[in-house]
This record gives sequence, C-alpha cells and structure tokens, in this order.
Amino acid sequence: MKITGIDEKKCSACGVCVQECAAGIYSVNGSKHVTHDDPYNWCTGCGHCVAVCPKDAIIYTAHEKTLEYPDKDISIKDVEKLLHTKRSIRRYKNKDVPEKEIEKLLEIMRFAPSGHNAQPCEYVVVKDREKIRMLGQATIASFKSFKKLIKIRKLLKPFIPKAFYEILSDRGTALGVDELIRQYESGKDIIFFDAPVLILAHVPNLGGLSYVDPTIALTYGMLAAHALGLGSCWMGFAMMAVAKHKKILQLLNIPKGRFIAGVITFGYPVHTYYRVPVRNKIKAEWYV
Ligand SMILES: Cc1cc2nc3c(=O)[nH]c(=O)nc-3n(C[C@H](O)[C@H](O)[C@H](O)COP(=O)(O)O)c2cc1C
Repeated sequence: MKITGIDEKKCSACGVCVQECAAGIYSVNGSKHVTHDDPYNWCTGCGHCVAVCPKDAIIYTAHEKTLEYPDKDISIKDVEKLLHTKRSIRRYKNKDVPEKEIEKLLEIMRFAPSGHNAQPCEYVVVKDREKIRMLGQATIASFKSFKKLIKIRKLLKPFIPKAFYEILSDRGTALGVDELIRQYESGKDIIFFDAPVLILAHVPNLGGLSYVDPTIALTYGMLAAHALGLGSCWMGFAMMAVAKHKKILQLLNIPKGRFIAGVITFGYPVHTYYRVPVRNKIKAEWYV
C-alpha cells in the first residue's frame, strides 16, 4: 500500500500515527492535524498508520481494502491447541487437495510479516506428480553427493565445523544415508511421503536474513493447513538439495537471482494423533 496523505477533516491530531510510524514520516503540526512528509521514500507501506488511526484519516492507494476484525478476542487455549496438535505429517492419503484449499493457505501466507515489509516471497505450487518425482530424485542425488563428503571427511576436517565433521564421522550417518537411498530406489517415497501437493517459497538471495521471511510465511501456511484438516511437513532435505539447483530452478520457472528457501508437503494425513509428543525442557537465560 502507498500512503498519499492525511484527510485533514477526519484527523484529530491525536498523534498515534506519529508514535506508530517506524519511518518517522508523520509530525504533529501545531495542534489541528498531523502532517505527512516523505521526501526520501522512507515509508515501507507497512500500513500501521492506517491500522492504528482511530479516525480512519490516513489516505492510501492499494489493490484492496484493509481487513477489519472489531472482535479481537483470541483465546490462548485455542492457540495452544492449534500449535500443540499440529504434527509433521509423513503419511498422506491418496486424495487430492482442492485448489480452493491451497488458495486459502496462500491467502493466509500473504499476511505473514516480512523484514522491512518487503514481502519478498513468491510460491510454486506443485501437484504434477512427475515434477514431484524430479524434486525427490534431486534430493536423492544430494544424498549421494553427501556420501562422497563422508569418504573425504579427513581431508575436509580443517575447513569444516567440528560438529559437521562429527556427523560425517558417525557410522550411523553413513548407514542411515545408505538406507534412505535404498528405500527410495526400491520405490518408497521417503522424501515427500507421496504427498499430493508441495508448496515451495522462493526469495531473492540477500544473504543472512533471506530464510527468515519464507520460514515465517510457510509456518503461517502450515498452521492454517492444520486448521483446515490438512497435514504438512517442512522438507529440510529437499530444501537443501534444490535451493540453488539450476535444473530444478529452471523446471519450476524460478526467476534468476532467486532461490528456493522452503519446501513443504501438504495433504490429508492418514493417521490420527492422540497425544502431543514430549519436548525438552525450555532453556532460557533471564536477565531481569
Ligand atoms: C527445518 C526443518 C526441517 C525438517 N526436515 C524434515 C525432512 O526433511 N523430512 C522429514 O520427514 N521431516 C522433517 N522435518 C520435521 C521434523 O522432523 C519434525 O518437526 C520433528 O520431528 C517434530 O515433530 P512434529 O513437528 O510433529 O512435532 C523438519 C522440520 C523442520 C523444522
């Protein structure tokens, strides 16, 4: 959204927008109304001024109207229930997910926060079984490359973190990778679990923070999916394998300069979960 001014007739000069705006483009002019001045285009279009103005006095242009939720009561019990009962799903029914349901997820992901309100995420929805198979194969190829790293780990030791060296040296790692490859090659989809839908998020490669926005947006999607009776799972192996895989980026028409920063499976879960798995105790240092 683009802020274009303030409706002086509506503005009561309460100054809430001045306090709320992170870009500092509002100021109280005397007492009658607030002025809006943004000569350096500092406004990120976050829309907080519009959201917070009690008089609806901020003038903006946008492709849609703002949503309004006059009733702001959200029970912590419901939030806990949603978060506790959402599982990572590794067995999906052989049942199509209607496009309307996928559109609902994308629509909710659209409202995720992003750094500087840049909204950098774009998505690829893959229902095509052949494309899903190709993504799975690219992931298995990365397992095979990983096996080569295991073989030359002693040469790599001075250049890699100690924890990674230990993973490469663990006998269980080598056996586990071999077993995954064996199962996949015998026809079991241990990568995507026969999920009928994948959603991939791609973003520009802007360094360290690049993963944060897609992670938040996809998490919104996974939580929304749970509320719709759909299961999901973050696909870490696939994501690492295809992030910058030239052929896969081409296959999915991902524009140059962008990379895949998240891969999620979606589908109807086969199993019912009766209990919430136990988690470790929280470790948190408090400075009060
Ligand atoms: C970053 C990340 C990567 C993951 N990658 C995979 C994966 O490649 N394959 C898989 O089966 N599960 C994957 N998972 C799911 C985790 O194994 C799962 O979250 C964990 O076991 C806890 O289970 P829960 O999500 O049902 O509570 C991943 C989860 C996260 C957050």
